[in-house]
Amino acid sequence: MKPIQVGLLGIGTVGSGVFSVLTRNQEEIQRRAGRGIRIHTVADLNTARAKELVQDNAQIVSDARSVIQNPEIDIVVELIGGYGIAKDLVLEAIAAGKHVVTANKALIAVHGNEIFKAAQNKGVMVAFEAAVAGGIPIIKALREGLSANRIEWIAGIINGTTNFILSEMRDKGLDFAVALKEAQRLGYAEADPSFDIEGIDAAHKATIMSAIAFGVPMQFSQAYVEGITNLSAIDIRYAEQLGYRIKLLGITKKTPIGIELRVHPTLIPSKRLIANVEGAMNAVQVFGDAVGTTLYYGKGAGSEPTASAVIADLVDVTRLLTADPENRVPHLAFQPNAMQNWPVLAIAEVTTSYYLRLSVADQAGVLAEITKILAGHSVSIDALLQKEANEGENKTDLVILTHETKEKNMVLAISEIQELKTVFGEVTKIRLENLS
Ligand code: HSE
Repeated sequence: MKPIQVGLLGIGTVGSGVFSVLTRNQEEIQRRAGRGIRIHTVADLNTARAKELVQDNAQIVSDARSVIQNPEIDIVVELIGGYGIAKDLVLEAIAAGKHVVTANKALIAVHGNEIFKAAQNKGVMVAFEAAVAGGIPIIKALREGLSANRIEWIAGIINGTTNFILSEMRDKGLDFAVALKEAQRLGYAEADPSFDIEGIDAAHKATIMSAIAFGVPMQFSQAYVEGITNLSAIDIRYAEQLGYRIKLLGITKKTPIGIELRVHPTLIPSKRLIANVEGAMNAVQVFGDAVGTTLYYGKGAGSEPTASAVIADLVDVTRLLTADPENRVPHLAFQPNAMQNWPVLAIAEVTTSYYLRLSVADQAGVLAEITKILAGHSVSIDALLQKEANEGENKTDLVILTHETKEKNMVLAISEIQELKTVFGEVTKIRLENLS
């Protein structure tokens, strides 16, 4: 049978990985897909570099639209990134009746609803395994492997840059700014690292997983997003003394009143497998009512790990090409007419545990005042750590771990605690999840 013809839009890090893995493993891939998968044309503004990479094995053009309009091309792979031109090209490819594979998490999280609607109307597939956690087949697991379950929650380390920085802070006792510089020097963080360190990249990925897990639309604009820029090395140390590690987690949960969708630094017990995911690695923990806890681990970025996910999508699309659109796996796991409009809860309504660090006067009655305020807002204390004051100093650090409570209770309690004359500076608050 004639090979499937692919048009590659963009041949940067991921695109070159797709080209070399497809070339290297073509025989094995063909045995799986049932027919060959061939890169017909590569579109890239840097045609000289593209030529160097693919040589005479594919046509090279600078105009992506000519790929989309080429009747010989069956699948368009979008590896340009961002929500600008990439969005136009994906929608144009769908309108031209092409199936689309993309690694673009920002595009899917922000414009996915529009894109899937267009794809459904046109009867084409849009596959996006590479958009979440790079090489880890988490979309496949959520969409197909776990389809018997009511998924209750997902918690993931889904940004390698921030996990690398947090690992460095913990291992070497570095402050955030120093660890970030180190990450940039080693190529783990970009020159402008804001999407990663502010949690936006993780929120894109959490949004996508939330939609597929619960059968709801993409709701990126409703996600609560807090990055790691304000995290201190001291909190990582205190957390460790209490048996916890701090990770930037993307969390989504289904509760009786709505969906939680949030990204923030989180204490998790050191004994959990996911707490031991270090460096730039990713991991996603999923809890389903039938299966219980499952954990997926691997490289969340990089040329060939991401190419692995893109090519898996190419194989899927190739296999399903002849199936009627209604017999294919739905884009968002649930049948389009069975999607539900569950609201994303405001952060004030989220229920979680907390780590608090306070700088307090080392004198009689201070602890009593603080615990009274917490009790007044129904916040129950789980553990407490007080350091001996340094000699000659009349203040010390007090660290409190709480049981679960609503965020709004905690916010009110903290604002009252801050009023105390015996509490100095800002109270540090970090959320805590037991993941049990
Ligand atoms: N910048 C991402 C990360 C990789 O650090 O994990 C691509 O999503």
